[in-house]
Amino acid sequence: MENFDFVSPTEFVFGRGAEEQVGQKLAERGARRVLVHFGGESARESGLIDRVCASLDAAGIEHLELGGVRPNPEIGLIRQAVALCKEAGVDWVLAVGGGSVIDSAKAVANGACIDGDVWELFETKRSNPDVLPIAVVLTIPAAGSEASKNAVVSNDELGRKTGYGSDAQRPRLAFMNPELTFTLPPFQTAAGLTDMFAHLLERFFDDYGAVPVTDNLNLSLMRTIRAEAPRVLVEPDDYDARANIMWAGMLCHQGLAGLGRHEDWATHALEHELSALDPSITHGAGLAVMFPAWMEYVCEQNPARFAHYGREVFGLAPTGDARADALSAIDETRAFFASLGMPTTLAELGVGEDDIPRMLPTLRANKGEAFGSMRRLTLEDAAAIYRLAL
Ligand code: NZQ
Ligand code: ZN
Repeated sequence: MENFDFVSPTEFVFGRGAEEQVGQKLAERGARRVLVHFGGESARESGLIDRVCASLDAAGIEHLELGGVRPNPEIGLIRQAVALCKEAGVDWVLAVGGGSVIDSAKAVANGACIDGDVWELFETKRSNPDVLPIAVVLTIPAAGSEASKNAVVSNDELGRKTGYGSDAQRPRLAFMNPELTFTLPPFQTAAGLTDMFAHLLERFFDDYGAVPVTDNLNLSLMRTIRAEAPRVLVEPDDYDARANIMWAGMLCHQGLAGLGRHEDWATHALEHELSALDPSITHGAGLAVMFPAWMEYVCEQNPARFAHYGREVFGLAPTGDARADALSAIDETRAFFASLGMPTTLAELGVGEDDIPRMLPTLRANKGEAFGSMRRLTLEDAAAIYRLAL
């Protein structure tokens, strides 16, 4: 097992009515003036923003509101929010939404504490220890940003989408009420399921040997997602199924499921270029297309690992031929994503062969000449994987 240094500072308030405790919990931690940051319309329409603000009012906490975060959050609104926080002396940022809102809030919380432009952190990956504390009311289980160290932000002017990771920006408080996810459109539920499953795949398939304590936790989460996914899609207001999925989404990406391993993350890098190329491409949908293609491309590196995954997650009986078993496991993965209603080809995302060369320069800017762990991929490999996914 590789050495690791794992920080997880998040307090989780989980279950029905969790968001009613926002004011009290933030007051206990000394919050005085909070930026309430949210997305398009869903949290406003459901009355959630009003409930959260009422909870802050009841606790005597001042607050400002700034909505409008789009999926694949953009640096322009983040810069506006940073200016607002500095002007108003905001001391906590409260994200009400999903990965996009939380990542925007993380960028804002960094930007509010530094002199220069916050994009510079995403560009240089320079570590910034000074970050406003962040709280989250989660409305979609998917990205796992409610406890993760990462934020992923787009810069439309530069055609870039890139991440910044730091333990200092892990949320301090996460309010997780599964009932808030009942209103999710089926496509967003499915994209979220795909994303959390992908966070496990990125950690399971690398160039390292077995780490049973980590691997078995990971496989158990994969089995759970597979079992619960049809339940939340068939019955969107099944509280227990939604609760299991919401908690799984956090466990998939807070870090535990990869400890002691190298982890891969090539497929996320390939997907982020799709969402940079066209910000209307949903992260989970891009992953559903790219993951099986990446698996096919790299599985020769360690067919036994794929066969093990196929046995443990899909119950595939071994045939004695590890390569054949690996390919069956990849087929099952593609079929699982398709069963959720996710796309299986780049064509379905509106991406064609001509787009591939357009993504490579920004991929190089984000990842350098080689990336990934199970197999080090060059830009030529990346192009080949995109072609496999067409
Ligand atoms: O904007 P509104 O109107 O709120 O609608 C949102 C949005 O359109 C809607 N939605 C959210 N909760 C809802 C709801 N609709 C109805 N009822 C609810 N309860 O869902 C749509 C998608 O929201 P978004 O926040 O974009 O989803 P997600 O959580 O999947 O976040 C995706 C972003 O996270 C990044 C992705 O790249 C992408 O930008 N990631 C962040 C990571 C991290 N910080 O650790 C890791 C991930 O790998 C990922 O890269
Ligand atoms: Zn992801």
